[in-house]
Amino acid sequence: MIRPSNRIWIVLLMSGLILSFVHADAQEGSQKGAPNPYLKGTEGYYKGPRGLTSYQPIAIDQPFAARMAQDVAAKPGIEREHQALLDERYDLGDHPARGVTMERGKPLQQGVRVKLPSGVTWDQLATMSPDDIRGRGVWPKGFLPLPHPFHPTGGFVFPKEEIDAIKRQDGRDLTRFDIDFDLPERFLAAFPPAMYLTPRPDLGDVSQGKLVSLTNYFEMFNGILTPRQLEGLRLLLTPFPQQQFNATDDRKSEIPSQGSACFDCHSNGHQNGTTHLAPDTRPEWFRHRIGTVSLRGVNIQRLFGSQRALKTIEDFTEFEQRTAYFDGDIVTAAKKGVNPLERGSQVDFMADFEEMLDFPPAPKLDLLGKLDPAKATPAEMRGQGIFFGKGQCASCHQPPYYTDNLMHDLETERFFKPEMVNYAMEVGDGKIKTFPLRGVKDNPPYLHDERLLTLDDTVEFFNLVLGDKLTAEEKQDLVAFLRAL
Ligand code: HEC
Ligand code: HEC
Repeated sequence: MIRPSNRIWIVLLMSGLILSFVHADAQEGSQKGAPNPYLKGTEGYYKGPRGLTSYQPIAIDQPFAARMAQDVAAKPGIEREHQALLDERYDLGDHPARGVTMERGKPLQQGVRVKLPSGVTWDQLATMSPDDIRGRGVWPKGFLPLPHPFHPTGGFVFPKEEIDAIKRQDGRDLTRFDIDFDLPERFLAAFPPAMYLTPRPDLGDVSQGKLVSLTNYFEMFNGILTPRQLEGLRLLLTPFPQQQFNATDDRKSEIPSQGSACFDCHSNGHQNGTTHLAPDTRPEWFRHRIGTVSLRGVNIQRLFGSQRALKTIEDFTEFEQRTAYFDGDIVTAAKKGVNPLERGSQVDFMADFEEMLDFPPAPKLDLLGKLDPAKATPAEMRGQGIFFGKGQCASCHQPPYYTDNLMHDLETERFFKPEMVNYAMEVGDGKIKTFPLRGVKDNPPYLHDERLLTLDDTVEFFNLVLGDKLTAEEKQDLVAFLRAL
């Protein structure tokens, strides 16, 4: 029998042992060389036996003004570093295509924008084996995963056009003081996007050229939608607290924020380029940058999210504000004001409206989703032949919507060695959902992380990934076909 006073000593001794292990772990990162940038601001927190933790700091331990001043001071350096990465990877110049535009006449950027490594051509790369490309380190850097504008912080980053429009219309400010959106406007979808409703094709574009927001939706849709759909749309336009936009001192907006709305990103049910980090991975540097996906045509899809593969639109809608808005961290969600939507009277109404969002019309396609030879150009017809033949695209992108509703692993890690770049771990992506290609011309930038800026880039990318060995002319024809979808 151990006397109570001895028991206390045993407990103290054991806690001492545990604490010294914890301390050794926390120190490890810094003893191995340069300080780990991901841990910035988390000094003093136990990072777990693997050098980090799944959780974020919860206590607000600094006045807001001090945090903001630090972030504002760091911003130019962060932007320089990220811009250098973009300049190294891409030709960001203005090269509009002739004879074709995006919707509402916005110029369509053309040409391959991913830069070649010195000493190789696209044709040479196409003849090399993945092992060769990896061994010689000549995988074009623009084909690597694209880091978030600031990966260690992540979070919603809105393009300027969206920020300006919401400020003007609804008086909310979506500006972050720590970072700005990174890709030039010319590579984003036309803004505001057009809006087509599945039950009313006769109406055409119902947006009237406006951005639908909380202050104009009623006037625009009263009389076209049912009361249930109107309420769904209202909720999609209503802001709720989020990781960087909330009312606490732990936010990235200058004044306390009401939060952000679904359609702040999915503008008019499409997308405006707004970027984020996928909430479903740890540690932070393994999280994928994700560009907002269009909600056009969600009614014919079966998997939601690029990797999460949620099975219904209702599940995705419900989970978005509960956890995705807060990086999958249920503890910070509670602190910042999570909004759990009620399934029967909120989620279902929102989903009803989402299911009405249609792809834009494709006047050259017949009802099976193939080109009508009477309307298509010879280049588009040849491109269709390549898409279904030598290009092997239709193995995954099946008509009429050009998706197989599955996920595929493109195994890009065959082509490069893992590397940490601007605080993001560059590795293969794993399985990603086959995005539908209907309306793809109006849905840039491409791939889940917005790493490709033009359709020409996507053709060059899949030509290598699939080993197609397409000629220069075949690639051009394929681009012409993609533009017609
Ligand atoms: C930061 C901008 C942003 C906000 C705000 C936002 N989303 Fe999204 N949405 C995204 C991104 C990014 C994806 C892609 C997610 C992924 O790849 O895992 C996405 C995906 C989706 C999808 C899946 C579509 C598909 O085809 O896979 C649905 C449905 C969706 N969002 C609905 C909503 C709803 C409903 C809300 C509001 C509750 C909302 N989103 C708020 C950015 C946003
Ligand atoms: C093995 C299945 C598969 C094949 C074959 C395939 N793709 Fe894809 N495609 C995908 C997947 C998966 C994605 C999403 C990848 C990502 O986001 O990382 C995708 C994305 C795309 C996108 C971007 C869509 C968007 O909205 O961002 C385009 C364009 C595209 N593919 C064109 C093609 C072309 C052209 C071919 C033939 C040369 C082709 N694909 C062959 C699976 C495939």
